[in-house]
Amino acid sequence: MTDIFKDPSFSPEERANDLLGRMTLEEKIGQTCQIDARENPELWINERNIGSFLHLRGDDAQRLQQLAEKTRLGIPLIFGIDAIHGHTFHSGATIFPSPLALASSWNPEIVEKMASITAKEVSCTGLHWTFSPVICLGRDTRWGRVDETFGEDPLLAGSLAVAMIKGYQGENLSDPYSILACAKHFAAYGETQGGRDSTEADVSVRKLKSIFLPPFKAASDAGCATFMTAYNAIDGVPCSANKWLLSDVLKDEWGFKGFVVTDWDNIGQMHKLQKVASDIKESSKIAINAGNDMMMSTPDYYENAVQLVKDGVIKEEVIDEACRRILEIKFKLGLFDEKRYPVSDDEASTIIGCDTHIKTAYDSALHSIVLLKNENNTLPLSKTIKRIAVIGPNADDIEATIGDWSFGPRYHPEIPLLEYNPFDTSKIVTILKGIQQQSGTEVEVIYEKGCDMFDKTLKNIDVAVEAANKSDVVIAVVGDTTLLNGEVLDRSQLDLTGAQQELLEALKKTGKPLVTVLINGKPLTVPWIKENADSILEAWNPGMEGGNAVASILFGDHNPSGKLPISFPVNVGQLPVYYNSYPGWHGNAKYLDVDSNPLFSFGYGLSYTNYSYANLEFSSNEMTKDGEIIVSVDITNTGSTKGTEIVQLYTNDIYSSVTTPIKELKAFKRITLEPGETKKVEFSLPASSLWLIDSNSNQVVEPGEFEIMVGSSSMDCDLLKGVITVL
Ligand code: NOJ
Repeated sequence: MTDIFKDPSFSPEERANDLLGRMTLEEKIGQTCQIDARENPELWINERNIGSFLHLRGDDAQRLQQLAEKTRLGIPLIFGIDAIHGHTFHSGATIFPSPLALASSWNPEIVEKMASITAKEVSCTGLHWTFSPVICLGRDTRWGRVDETFGEDPLLAGSLAVAMIKGYQGENLSDPYSILACAKHFAAYGETQGGRDSTEADVSVRKLKSIFLPPFKAASDAGCATFMTAYNAIDGVPCSANKWLLSDVLKDEWGFKGFVVTDWDNIGQMHKLQKVASDIKESSKIAINAGNDMMMSTPDYYENAVQLVKDGVIKEEVIDEACRRILEIKFKLGLFDEKRYPVSDDEASTIIGCDTHIKTAYDSALHSIVLLKNENNTLPLSKTIKRIAVIGPNADDIEATIGDWSFGPRYHPEIPLLEYNPFDTSKIVTILKGIQQQSGTEVEVIYEKGCDMFDKTLKNIDVAVEAANKSDVVIAVVGDTTLLNGEVLDRSQLDLTGAQQELLEALKKTGKPLVTVLINGKPLTVPWIKENADSILEAWNPGMEGGNAVASILFGDHNPSGKLPISFPVNVGQLPVYYNSYPGWHGNAKYLDVDSNPLFSFGYGLSYTNYSYANLEFSSNEMTKDGEIIVSVDITNTGSTKGTEIVQLYTNDIYSSVTTPIKELKAFKRITLEPGETKKVEFSLPASSLWLIDSNSNQVVEPGEFEIMVGSSSMDCDLLKGVITVL
C-alpha cells in the first residue's frame, strides 16, 4: 500500500491526517516553528523538523529545502517573505507602489493584477508565502506603518485586501505560481496609543467588531490561507494571547481553515516586555492555547512546548491541531508535489521584472496618483513650456520613490545580518528621470536638489531659486523618505523636514507657477502647500515606474483619477481626523484653534476634467431587513478631457440604539466618461449592509431611516443625499 500522504490522489485533509499520525511529538512541534535561519538552520531541519523559515532568498532556500527532503518524513519547508508591494527583497524584481498608494486607485482589479505578478515572481524564486496584505487601518498618521496600510476605511481596506489575496493565491493554491497570502496584523495594530508602534490599543469589543474586524472577516471569507497576529495588546491582552480573537472569532465563528502565525517573537515579548508571563514557558503555553499555530522567531518556544506537553500542561491534541493546519496548507499549496523548488534561472529571467510586469507597475502608479489642487489649470503643463526646473530632495531619490520594504526594510532590527546588496537600481525611474525621459527634445529640464531631507543646514536654496528664475514652471518634489516611515519609526511631527519648507517658500517668491509633487509614506501636515502651490500631486511611494507615471500626468498623457484613502490632518494636534467619526454632544467637536475639517478629506481627488452628479434615485424608498434597493445616480463629464471618476456611496443610520459613524462608505465604482458623456451608475444596497454593533456586541440591522449619500468624496459639499427606510 502506498503512503497516503505521498499520494496526490488523496485530498489535502486526508494526506495531512495520515502524515500527522506518523509524526513524533517533537516533529509536530518543529512544524509549528518558524525562524530566520541565521542560527544553525541545519540543526533546526535535521533535529527539529522545523516547518518554516522567513527572509531567505532563493539560493539559500533551495539548499535548505534539499536538506528537508532528506529528513525522516521529508516534509517540505515553507519560506515566507515580506513581499508587500512586489517581490521587493529580490534584486531586479518588479516594485509596485506602496499599499497606501495602491489604495488611492480604489481599483481592486489593478491590485489583484499586482498581487498575481508578485506571486509569480516570488514563487519563481522558490519562496511560497508573502506576509501581505496589511489590513491595519491607518487612522493615526503619526504611526510609522501607515504606508503599509490601505488607509483609514474598513470597506475600502477589505475590498482591496480581498483583491490582493485573490491575486496572490490565484484560483487555486495549487496553481503553479500561487503563493500564500497573510492577513495581518490581527488586530487593531494601527490603533495603538498616540500612533506609537505596538503599544496598547484601547478599543472596545464593539469598536473592534464595528471598525477593525470587518476587513479581516472579508479576508477570511476570501480564503486567505494565513493570518498573522499583531504585536499590540487590546484591553490588556496581547493579540497572540487572545483566545477570543484567534479561536472563538477567527476559527470558530468565521470558520477560518488556514493557520495563524505570530508576529516576530510575540511569544518572547509577552514575557520580556508586555510582562503577561513570568517566563517563556508560560508565554508559550498562553500562545498555544490561544490558537496560534506557527510561532515566528521565538526559538525557545520549541523546547518549552515539548516540555509543556510532556508535563501534561498542554494537551497533545492542541499541538496536533496546529500542525494539521500547517500540513494541510502545505499539501494544498502543492509543496509535497511539484512546487517546492525555484524555477530554472532561464525561466526566472523571463519572468522577474519582465516588461509586462513593469507595465503593470506603471499602470498601478498612474491609478494611484491623486491630484489635490489645480489652480488655473496649471496642469497639465502647457505645450509652450520651454524650460522646467525640477527641484527638491525627493526629485531623484530612489528609496523615497520605491518606498519601505524595498531591498529589504530600510530599518529592521530583525534582519541586519542578511546580505541583500547589491541591488539593481537601474530600472527605477525617479521623478526627475521620468520628466527627463518624457519632456521631449524641445524642453530643457534643470535639476537642483535644493536641500537635504534631514539636515536644515544642508541647503543650496539660492541655486535652486536661480534655476526656477530661468524656467517657465517649477516642479518641487518634496515629502518624506523611508527613514521616516516603518516599524518603530513613528513621528510626533508631520511637517516637512530639513529645509524643505524654506525651499518651497523661496521658490514661491520667484512668482513662477509652482507644482508640488509629494513623495511620502503618509499624509503630512502641509497647509502652506495647500494654500500656496498652484498644483499638487500626491504620488506617495509610487514604485519603480513612479517617475514615468508622474511625468505622464504632468504632461497630460494621462488624466489623474486617484482619490485619497486617508484624510490629511491640518496639524498633528488635530488627529484623529478620519471621516467616519462619531457624533458628539456638541456636534462636530473641534478645537478652538483649528477647524474640524481635515486638510484634505477621505475620498477627495481632482481630475483634469469635471464631473457633475444628478438624479439620485432609489428603486424604492423602503426595504425589509432581508431586502435590497438599487441606488442610482447620473454622472456627466462636463469638461473636455476623457476621465475616470470614482463614485462613492456613504450611509448614515439616522437614529439608532447606539451612536454610529456620521458616514460610512458602503460601496464605490469606477466609471470612465468621454467629454460630455453621461452614465447612470447603479449600486445594489442590501439592508444587511446597514448593520451596527449594539450595546450587547451583537451585529443587528435596526429598522428606521437611513441617509444615503452619493458623490465624489466624503465631504458634504460633494454628496447628493436622500433618505430610505428599513422596515
Ligand atoms: C514584523 C512585522 O511586524 C511584520 O509585518 C512582518 O511580516 C514580520 N516582522 C516579518 O518580517
